[in-house]
Amino acid sequence: MAIQWYPGHMHKAQKQIREVMPNVDLVIEVLDARLPYSSNNPLVFELRGGTPCLKILNKSDLADPQSTQQWIDYLQQTHNVRAVALDQQKQTQVQSILTLIRQMVPNKGSADKPITALICGIPNVGKSTLINALAGRIIAKTGNEPAVTKAQQKIRLDGYITLLDTPGILWPKFDNENSGYRLAASGAIKDTAISHDDVAAFAGEYLLAYYPQRLKERYGWQTLPSDEIDLLETLGRQRGCLVRGGHVDFTKVATILLSELREGTLGPITLEHPEQIEAEEAHFAQL
Ligand code: G4P
Repeated sequence: MAIQWYPGHMHKAQKQIREVMPNVDLVIEVLDARLPYSSNNPLVFELRGGTPCLKILNKSDLADPQSTQQWIDYLQQTHNVRAVALDQQKQTQVQSILTLIRQMVPNKGSADKPITALICGIPNVGKSTLINALAGRIIAKTGNEPAVTKAQQKIRLDGYITLLDTPGILWPKFDNENSGYRLAASGAIKDTAISHDDVAAFAGEYLLAYYPQRLKERYGWQTLPSDEIDLLETLGRQRGCLVRGGHVDFTKVATILLSELREGTLGPITLEHPEQIEAEEAHFAQL
């Protein structure tokens, strides 16, 4: 699967992270709570060495709460990090991140010894929103198109914490091909070579396996479609997505299904689970 990406930006990010890392007390990695594995950037693990790490599972309002807790436990047990869920619509949760930062670097955090925290994450994960919320002013540009931070930004949160914003762009890892589909299904990546219909078929198959009840409730189905193609066909007919000859317009119905998934209309949904990822990793390792 070919994903459009920008190696130059990645290289720049890598170089600058390597340079600042000796002065960093804490790495804050912002992940998408719907896909904490696929929204992870492998470089962060490689470059942080033994530096303490806080993984923030952001957009937790869109993720299945039970699965988010499962991920938090898994990451804390297996990755030697602190992990927390965050819904940035809740101001108190954002503020608790400052308390956590101080807790995680207990020997610093005074006027003469400020904490230096490096914040990183793949595009569209909510990094700029978090920087702005923590700083209490607009510093980073937010929005759907990934903006490239040209130079390392130092943001003084208060007298005691300095945030370093990662320059360049950190892209997710694509060596597990399912990650590309999940990132596309969540809306985290857009410029992919995977067709829209394929992403919707992938999402449909996943929803049938993991969230059958949600599908029944949302679409008023007594019985479930037999597979993902049947799902798209059934939904397409139901929503009048038809072309000449009475055939279903798959691109149109794919857009409907993916929009409902991304906007949370189908309810909070997590797109991957720790045990599923372990099984996939074992499978890909054998190939
Ligand atoms: P980035 O810097 O990592 O690229 O991401 P950014 O902060 O620009 O956020 C990307 C999108 O994610 C924004 O929406 C932002 O509002 C949304 N977002 C951030 N945190 C949360 C969260 O906790 N929950 C939910 N549901 N969304 C979150 P947007 O539609 O692209 O832009 P805008 O309409 O907010 O301007």
